Amino acid sequence: MKRTAIVVSVVLAVGFLAANVVKSGTVTFEQLKQGKAIVEDTCIECHDLEWPMTKVADRAGWEETLTKMANTGAVLDPADRELVIEYMLAKSAFQTKCVLCHSLERPLEKNKQFQEWMVTVQRMSSKKARHLTDDDIKAIAGFLTAKGAWTRLY
Ligand code: HEC
Ligand code: HEC
Repeated sequence: MKRTAIVVSVVLAVGFLAANVVKSGTVTFEQLKQGKAIVEDTCIECHDLEWPMTKVADRAGWEETLTKMANTGAVLDPADRELVIEYMLAKSAFQTKCVLCHSLERPLEKNKQFQEWMVTVQRMSSKKARHLTDDDIKAIAGFLTAKGAWTRLY
């Protein structure tokens, strides 16, 4: 009985630690805002934001790019690197999923709160079956919230 209690509390502790690590799909818009701030602070030291912001890639692609950047001197601590990757993945989802029926300007010119973006993105999702997963919806709504009043990608 006692041993079971210890095992349960260890499992809970590990679960709690894991919950503090950003994972794809569980990312919040606050974390995407942090990722955006890190990109804007650290990715303009050697080039402007055009390369990072126009590139669309999956996780492996961003891992590869960030490793290449680290080798040129842009070393991020693991937590910041993960926030940057999540931000870049949300941005990439937005850039690929929201251009099928209209330009990106249509969402970019709007400034909404997270819950309002969730409603809009869910409404867009219902226009095309199986187009967006729940994780895509949350990430894209979070990316657009993090964008704030900006009407351009960068
Ligand atoms: C220490 C200098 C330096 C910093 C800081 C830096 N970069 Fe770069 N980056 C480069 C150089 C040099 C190139 C062009 C050569 C190349 O492609 O490897 C480049 C090219 C790129 C490219 C285009 C090539 C590709 O792999 O797609 C992307 C995207 C990019 N950087 C993203 C980023 C991001 C995101 C950050 C911030 C985390 C960043 N960079 C910070 C030096 C830097
Ligand atoms: C299957 C087609 C389709 C896709 C994909 C699509 N949209 Fe739309 N979107 C529309 C149409 C049609 C309208 C105009 C009518 C309306 O508002 O329902 C629109 C209008 C909008 C508007 C203006 C209206 C408002 O509520 O603010 C925004 C913002 C928007 N879309 C955002 C997005 C985003 C973000 C995505 C990607 C998740 C997206 N759209 C993907 C078809 C689409």
